[in-house]
Order: sequence, then structure tokens, then C-alpha cells
Amino acid sequence: MRAALQLSEAGLKVAVLSKVFPTRSHTVAAQGGIAASLGNVTEDNWHWHMYDTVKGSDYLGDQDAIEFMCRQAPGVVYELEHFGMPFDRLENGKIYQRPFGGQSQHFGGAQAARSCAVADRTGHAMLHTLYQRNVSVNTQFFVEWLGLDLIRDQQGEVLGVTALEMETGAVMILQARATLLATGGAGQIFEASTNAFINTGDGLGMVARSGIPLEDMEFWQFHPTGVYGAGVLISEAVRGEGGYLLNAAGERFMERYAPNAKDLASRDVVSRALTTEIRQGRGCGPDGDHMLLKLDHLGAEVIKSRLPGIREIAMKFAHVDPIVAPIPVVPTAHYMMGGIPTNYHGQVVAPYKTGPEEVVPGLYAVGECACVSVHGANRLGTNSLLDIVVFGRAAGNQIIEDLHKNNHHKPLPLDAAEYTLARLTRLETQRDGEDVAQTGAALRKTMQNYCGVFRFPDVLKQGVEKINEVAACVRQTEIRDKSRVFNTARIEALELDNLIEVAIATMVSAEARLESRGAHAREDFPERDDRKWLKHSLYFGQDQRLDYKPVRLKPISVESFPPKARTY
Ligand code: FUM
Repeated sequence: MRAALQLSEAGLKVAVLSKVFPTRSHTVAAQGGIAASLGNVTEDNWHWHMYDTVKGSDYLGDQDAIEFMCRQAPGVVYELEHFGMPFDRLENGKIYQRPFGGQSQHFGGAQAARSCAVADRTGHAMLHTLYQRNVSVNTQFFVEWLGLDLIRDQQGEVLGVTALEMETGAVMILQARATLLATGGAGQIFEASTNAFINTGDGLGMVARSGIPLEDMEFWQFHPTGVYGAGVLISEAVRGEGGYLLNAAGERFMERYAPNAKDLASRDVVSRALTTEIRQGRGCGPDGDHMLLKLDHLGAEVIKSRLPGIREIAMKFAHVDPIVAPIPVVPTAHYMMGGIPTNYHGQVVAPYKTGPEEVVPGLYAVGECACVSVHGANRLGTNSLLDIVVFGRAAGNQIIEDLHKNNHHKPLPLDAAEYTLARLTRLETQRDGEDVAQTGAALRKTMQNYCGVFRFPDVLKQGVEKINEVAACVRQTEIRDKSRVFNTARIEALELDNLIEVAIATMVSAEARLESRGAHAREDFPERDDRKWLKHSLYFGQDQRLDYKPVRLKPISVESFPPKARTY
């Protein structure tokens, strides 16, 4: 929506296709804040933000893109404020900011408070702000439409998409001079996830099927605090406000794993600590399989004003009122650091004649579906809301510039919809095929059991075999309900085609990376290996092969942060 706004304001005709009503997109679930070095609560500046993000990424982030994002952060937040986003306020009227994991401790030990918050509903407020703004400039929304495949011509230029209108079941071609994917994450490849059911990696599936690789798919963030048994997110804002984790002995165990940052170390560190405590027998509850998040000491007033959504979630999903009792939590799949390879102008790039990052004409991607890569091997909390507005705006500006040079529609190839129609015909005519729900469950179980917080060599090897078996089933799914109007069976089958692309890319890339970095923690290679592995993975689903490309260590205007040991 941030990109669409830029385009509509420039007088271009914009169609936004969305599986759900736009204000129900998964950004609505982003709780804790948006990072920007406003320095309203503690001293701060964009260069520290940049350093924290490079360090948080375990040095796999591209430093030009990280500099671009961190420098733009204050500007995009003030812009949102001026659009009417209802940020919480300090006594002096400035935007309220809270500390989050991995934010610098440059202040005599005190942690930077960098996350600008609307209570614990920041994404919700942002979506409504951007939707209203788009409505005011006549952006056209196509609600409950599912993008199916990219349309590319002989030269590889993207000329639009095929898409399904859910209400009627009609399949249509949407021809476009520029196509931007902002399809979010794919957490539905895991059994336990903070992600909405709509997060099925649709943009990644479209890209993978068109021969473009997926980047760094082995890096999945497990959020340390999903509600035990339900997966729903309990924001890191709880720890930012002063909450902390306890094991079965009532010990504040993060002090042993991250003596300085403690509960506000980066997420990969906290999730591994939590999992280690459980594996070593210090977990809580009758099965010793979760930890407790204590926040009652914050007091009812802070909980009700700063964390009202968390209280509601804890009461509904864990049946505890955090004003009086701790919340049972476990690490839960939360965010995909990898995705569609792009540069920091939002242009999709892929290896071709000119090198590893040739621009794919007509195609752009931003947000969680894209890999810019600002998050590298581990994202810092609240950098995701920042990512979507910074790169949404940048991609909008790039499209405006590109469309000045390219001011007419190119003719569509005669077979523009053939690939999509062949996929649909296969699904409609499949007999004695595989059940979609069962195949989806097998996919999620495989990813959960073979590619979790800790990764083991034999388990990964078996995981590759298992996920290929699941892929064979996905190629033979059958739907019994052939009706057209709001046929959710057909939609789930098509979503499964996307999930499998994401799952295979994840498992294969994880099995191949022989080091531990950020969220990718291998038992057999526990150290980071910059000599061999300071590089991005590229998985080509069509050819079933892996390639690599260098990390961009050179920022735009400042000196590079060279890789060094990462401690918190
Ligand atoms: O914990 C949270 O509020 C999540 C924020 C994020 O993923 O950036």
C-alpha cells in the first residue's frame, strides 16, 4: 500500500490485488513498533541503527540496503505521523519509543529505545492509515483476488499476472507495465507459526515457477514468545517494557546466555536459549515443554495502556491474565529473512548475462516476500514495519522513473495464460489424487520436525528426501468440489503449490549451508564461517539447483562494518 500510494499520488493507474480486505493483511498482526532513530527517549542516530542491523543480521545483510533503510527511517515515520497514524505520545508530545531486542547499548549500559509504537497494535494502525490514504487518491483495490502466475515475454520482461477472482472463480489476465509483489511471508510452511493462514508465499511461488531464484531461504526467524499451544505472537514489546523469561526453577535464564542484553538479545539468541533450556530439562509445565514470560511486576496500568492486545491474547489463548500470572510461551516460526532477490530500489534481480544481479524488467518486490537483504541471517524486531514502508516508497519511486521511459503496454505473448490454465486443468481433471489438507499437514510437519530452531545433519538430509516426497503429492492434488463461487478448496490447492516452492527452497538451502549464522544453527557446524559462507544462497526451483552470490559489504556512503564476533 505504501508503493501504491506513491504511484497513485503521481497520477498513475494502480490496481492492488489482495486475497483479503487490505486492512486484514498480515501487517495487522505486527505489534511492537516500527524502528527509527528518532532519539525521543534515549540518544540515538541512524548510524547506530545501521550497526545494530548489520550485527543483528550476523553480517549477511547487504550494507548498502541497510544504510539506505536506516537513514530513511526517521523520515518515513514522520511521514506516517503526518498521514495521521496515531502513535502513542510521550509527556512532551513526541512519539513514544520503546527498546527492542538487539538495539544498541551505547548509553552507559542503557538500551536504545528505538521502536515507535501505537500501544501493541502498530501494524494495525499503519494498515488503516495507508488504506485511507490510498482511498483518498483513488487506488483501485481488487479484494479477494489470488495472483496465480507471472506473465513474461521472450526477453523475460514481466507484463502482468494471471489471477483468480474468488467470488466468481474467473481466471483473468491483468496486464501491467509494472508488477510489484508485496505478498508477505510464508510461515504456513511450519506447524507452529505466528503467521496468518493467508501467509502461503504466493509471490515466492509465482517467482520460483517463472525461473527466478529464491534467496537465503534457510534463514527463518523463530520468535521466542509465541503462546504455548497456539503460536499466536506475544510481542517482544513485553520484554521491551520490562518483562522477562523464567525457567521451571524460576531462574531468569537469559542472564547466562546474554549477560548484557539479557531478555533483549536478538531473537535468534533468545529462541536458542529457550530451546536449550527445554532440551536440558528446565522447561515448565507437566511436560517441561515451555517457558514463562513474567510481566505482572509491570503493574496493571502499564499492561492495560501499553500492552492491551497482549493481555487480550493471553487471556483468550493461554487462559491467563498477565496482570496476575506469567504467560506460557515457546519459540514459534515468525518471519522469513529470505525471499525474492531485489536491490534497494525494489527491482527484482537475478543472475543473468551481466552478473548475479541483473534487473528483471517490469518486476518489483518489497516487504517480507523480498530479500533486499536488510535482515540477512536474523531480523531485528520492528525492522520489518520499517522495511515495508521504506522499500514500498523506494519501489514506487523507481516504478515512476521506469514508467517514464516505458510509456506503453508491450503486446502480451499469445500463450500468456497457457501455463496457468494448464495448472488449473491438471487440478480440475486429477483423479485418484492426493488430499490437499493432508498433503498440507505433511508439508508443515516435515518442516517443523526437520528444519526447526536447531538443525542436525542427518535430520536435514532426511528432510530433503521427505519434502521431495511431499512435493510429489502436491503435483497430484485433487479437489472434489469443482464449483466456481468462493471455492476455498481450489484456493487451498493453489496455495499449496506456493508453499511447496518455499518449503523445498528452505530445506535444500539449509542442508547445503555448512555453518551456523543467525537463525541457521547447525549442530555439526556450530561456528560462523566467513571464509566459506559469507555469501547469499540462490535456489532455482525449476532447475532444482543452488548457486551463491556475494554479500554487498560496501555501504553507500559510510565505512563498512567488517564481520566480527557477535555477542549480546
Ligand atoms: O514482537 C513483536 O512485536 C514483533 C515485532 C516484529 O516482528 O518486528
